[in-house]
Amino acid sequence: MSQCATQGDSQPRIAVDDRTHVLALTGAGVSAESGIATFRGAKGLWEGHRIEEVASPEGFAADPQLVWRFYSARREKAALAQPNPGHRALAALEERLGDRFLLASQNVDDLHGRAGSTRLVELHGNLFRTRCSECDREPFRDEKSYAAGPLPQCDLCLKQGRRALFRPHIVWFGEMLDPEDLRRVDEFLARPAERLIFLAAGTSGVVWPAAGLVDLARRRGAQTWLVNAEPAENSSRFHHFILGKSGEVLPGLLGVE
Ligand SMILES: NC(=O)c1ccc[n+]([C@@H]2O[C@H](COP(=O)([O-])OP(=O)(O)OC[C@H]3O[C@@H](n4cnc5c(N)ncnc54)[C@H](O)[C@@H]3O)[C@@H](O)[C@H]2O)c1
Ligand SMILES: [Zn+2]
Repeated sequence: MSQCATQGDSQPRIAVDDRTHVLALTGAGVSAESGIATFRGAKGLWEGHRIEEVASPEGFAADPQLVWRFYSARREKAALAQPNPGHRALAALEERLGDRFLLASQNVDDLHGRAGSTRLVELHGNLFRTRCSECDREPFRDEKSYAAGPLPQCDLCLKQGRRALFRPHIVWFGEMLDPEDLRRVDEFLARPAERLIFLAAGTSGVVWPAAGLVDLARRRGAQTWLVNAEPAENSSRFHHFILGKSGEVLPGLLGVE
């Protein structure tokens, strides 16, 4: 593993040409410079709440009002935040590579989409989408706050004589990731590529299955890079680890300044 301890050193650059395929994986750290707290940061996202209370199906069943208050506050905060140079660098790389690029993000804050990323798999859902807690209707775009007042109910379920609450379209603890999302990532890695790069940024490497993607990518022959503000749980499994902030490192690393 090569490690660049400071950004003062001459900055490495990932060579990208017309044979290069890039799978990027991002976590909460990529949005830290936009003012959105990371999960394990000192001012953790779940501040004041136990994870099970606000991010599990059991928590929602026990107190849906609290869960909607929590996610309404997350929506408000994310809506006020702006994408930073890290988000924009990944969108610029996609612009350049087209279908040879895929971004898998664990973030739910919509900032990649707002920066212009379209080949995007949101592994843990999206804050601004809502779905029914009972039926399998499609999740839909929803920017509303349900911090106060009545909780939103599914009209389709009501027509069938059932009362069912809407819930945030977020993968909660104890829930499965969407197999279709995992299939897209796997399919991308399985495609024949002369030069395959796996680039992870702002992720602590403890949340599965994202933390294991580096190993899968390596088995498929990828050169692997990690950009993180501190050593991650899985840093040693990457070929290259750059210690630094994604908003400062990614534009230069990807040559899209
Ligand atoms: N922005 C969001 O959407 C958001 C925020 C918090 C939590 N979450 C959810 O909680 C889970 C947390 O897991 P995770 O691994 O993504 O995040 P994490 O909070 O566990 O880890 C974030 C990592 O980013 C690093 N980091 C902090 N600032 C950075 C910066 N400026 N540049 C580079 N790295 C930086 C930290 O050192 C840490 O290792 C996610 O799966 C996500 O679903 C999402
Ligand atoms: Zn329903």
